Amino acid sequence: MHELVRHAAEARRQAYAPYSGYKVGACVLGSNGRLYMGCNVENISYGLTICAERSAITAMVLAGCVEILEVAVVTRDGGTPCGACLQVIAEFAFKIEHVKVHCATEDGVMQTYDLKELLPHGFSSGEVRQNETDTRQSE
Ligand code: THU
Repeated sequence: MHELVRHAAEARRQAYAPYSGYKVGACVLGSNGRLYMGCNVENISYGLTICAERSAITAMVLAGCVEILEVAVVTRDGGTPCGACLQVIAEFAFKIEHVKVHCATEDGVMQTYDLKELLPHGFSSGEVRQNETDTRQSE
């Protein structure tokens, strides 16, 4: 089995999903060659739920890596990442055409997309980017 899927399936076992019953595990491959895993963590105040993908990306950033090469998500039906997670994956993609997203079940990959297919028109304002550059320069 695909190594990323195997790790995402392992992370899924830690999912905390007592409200939806829908467990999700994610694994991202960073540009440093390391794998970072995450699972969904639900809350009785539903809107506070953290998705598996964003939990994995947080671990990657904490480790000092800010570029994603590949992502695997394991669910019971091979579902795709939600819109919010796609936007967060895009934040750390050098080129969205080059980031593969494997949607899988415990049995293996059901479908592989590139991020550009799943998020063809994500938010990426040039004006905000200009602001980011100015802020970084003044640090
Ligand atoms: N969920 C994820 O972990 N990732 C996604 O991309 C979509 C949804 C979780 C949130 C919630 O715990 C459960 O799946 C059902 O929506």
